[in-house]
Amino acid sequence: MKMSSFFPILIFCMILFFTSPCYSDPDQLQDFCVADLNATTTSLNGDFFFSGFTKEGNTNNNFGLAITPGNVLSFPGLNTLGLSMNRVDYAPGGVNPLHSHPRATEAGVIIKGKVLVGFISTTNVLYSKVLKAGEMFVIPKGLVHFQKNVGRGKAVTITSFNSQLPGAAVLPATIFVSNPAIPNDILAKNFQVNETVITSIKSKFGSS
Ligand code: GLV
Ligand code: MN
Repeated sequence: MKMSSFFPILIFCMILFFTSPCYSDPDQLQDFCVADLNATTTSLNGDFFFSGFTKEGNTNNNFGLAITPGNVLSFPGLNTLGLSMNRVDYAPGGVNPLHSHPRATEAGVIIKGKVLVGFISTTNVLYSKVLKAGEMFVIPKGLVHFQKNVGRGKAVTITSFNSQLPGAAVLPATIFVSNPAIPNDILAKNFQVNETVITSIKSKFGSS
């Protein structure tokens, strides 16, 4: 090979080598993050222990559910470490409503009770199973899922996420309690029902 044709190839390979580690952004950590252009320092978190999971959550609500998050907001020591956990308490019959985590895959273990766990793929296949204490599940990132306590007593799960702040789009709230509200005619068309059905569902959530 002539020297004159070798140099452009060499330069191209060097550019590829030095720039390839930078070809994509890291996964986002929250819905949005407006830069503070005046910040002059970086703050460091120093709290690496969290006792938020020692207490049972209060499941006295319509879903029979209590979620205690151990994410960067409640446990700042997680900052930049890329993971977090939840304690989830269920009353008998309690349901963790349909939701998805836009920024994380979820893995969970049943600590107590019997829990039906399900998720729906983007091809609308439902994968579900009843699990007992000690058994584990995984929910792929972003997929809609739910849990229900199908045992006689209370149930507890511990879930973990590969994000310090996985986020949760809880479908009933997203659809019927957004602010501002999604117009009723749009919801009626989406669900192929009369608008009175929509106003009736919204009223259950104290919305209109
Ligand atoms: C369960 O699905 C959880 O998000 O903790
Ligand atoms: Mn979840």
